[in-house]
Amino acid sequence: MKKRVLSLMLTAIMAMGLAVGCGPADTGAPADTAADTSAETSDDGGADKAASTGKKVAVAMPTQSSERWINDGSNMKQKLEALGYEVDLQYAEDDVQAQVSQIENMIAAGADCLVIAAVDSSALVNVEAQAKEAGIPIIAYDRLLMDTDAVSYYATFDNKGVGTAIGKYIEESKDLANTSETYTIEFFMGSPDDNNAVMLYNGLMEVLQPYLDDGTLVCKSGRTSFEDTCILRWSQETAQQNCENYLTGFYANDKLDICATAFDGFAYGCKAALEGAGYKVGEDWPLITGQDAELMATKNIIAGSQTMSIYKDTRLLADKCVTMVQAVLEGSEPEINDKEQYDNGKLVVPSYLCTPVAVDKDNYKKIIVDGGYYTEEQLAE
Ligand code: BGC
Repeated sequence: MKKRVLSLMLTAIMAMGLAVGCGPADTGAPADTAADTSAETSDDGGADKAASTGKKVAVAMPTQSSERWINDGSNMKQKLEALGYEVDLQYAEDDVQAQVSQIENMIAAGADCLVIAAVDSSALVNVEAQAKEAGIPIIAYDRLLMDTDAVSYYATFDNKGVGTAIGKYIEESKDLANTSETYTIEFFMGSPDDNNAVMLYNGLMEVLQPYLDDGTLVCKSGRTSFEDTCILRWSQETAQQNCENYLTGFYANDKLDICATAFDGFAYGCKAALEGAGYKVGEDWPLITGQDAELMATKNIIAGSQTMSIYKDTRLLADKCVTMVQAVLEGSEPEINDKEQYDNGKLVVPSYLCTPVAVDKDNYKKIIVDGGYYTEEQLAE
């Protein structure tokens, strides 16, 4: 009888423990013993996880609408967790206010370090000041954080180099330096609130402006300035709309030869517009550039409906960013290779620039498949 009462009591205690969640272990053990196991379970966390540092890194990403940011987020999470950091990863779906609130919540939730890829690089000044006030260091991820002195380091790709690589690809493909032909071209540039977009444009025009000036390249819409060709929030729909407008407004008689776009999403938009206007791959299809070497873009390159993209190895970028997180949290020295280019209006942010690589149908196997970024199977699906 006594035994039965004891066992009933134990069952009741266990049920209470479960009902209140009883700590991090959630082993189903009674509440008092669950506390004892918490250190073990949260520190261990599987064979490839390091012991917990007890520090929390919050990662604010701009959007899941484009594949690259999904990869960036999961790479960062995985690499930080492998070093024993707790990670709070959030996406703002290109909504500036949502990103501000997410970062406020990260600060309130006790983040030890913030990694931010901004939706709008200048819109976070207040929340960045709050982080500084709370002693939380900030690392800018891929996009420079503007007008703030709260940022410690910046990990990115050589953004001007991306533009130069796109320009050089066009120059070499069409042999612009030697040809007696003229080629029509339209431009689809990035978001005006993203410093990367301006740098890309500058790099691109450094190569192409002489050919616009001497008439080898002809932009029939007349839209060649950054102000006239930038596309807010990198919207694929706007790129498609712009391309449709150019095709109907300026290319009823002449064909469009080159879509100089700054993003794979824009290349998809142009592709849809060109298909709608009756262009055919392998016949009168233009040269179309892009950026990010997304899976779909790489498939399109193989199929011929996109000509090239800029491959940015997001694994490498995450590695570099993680060294910066460790630097601010553990006092180590991150590798820096640029102390000049990235002036955000308040300071020149010490940066690491990864190297972007142009990929097309001739080199994608060597760079992308052999580099382990996508498998042949993924590309064939
Ligand atoms: C990134 C590009 C990306 C673009 C749109 C830029 O800030 O540098 O890689 O294509 O945002 O997401």
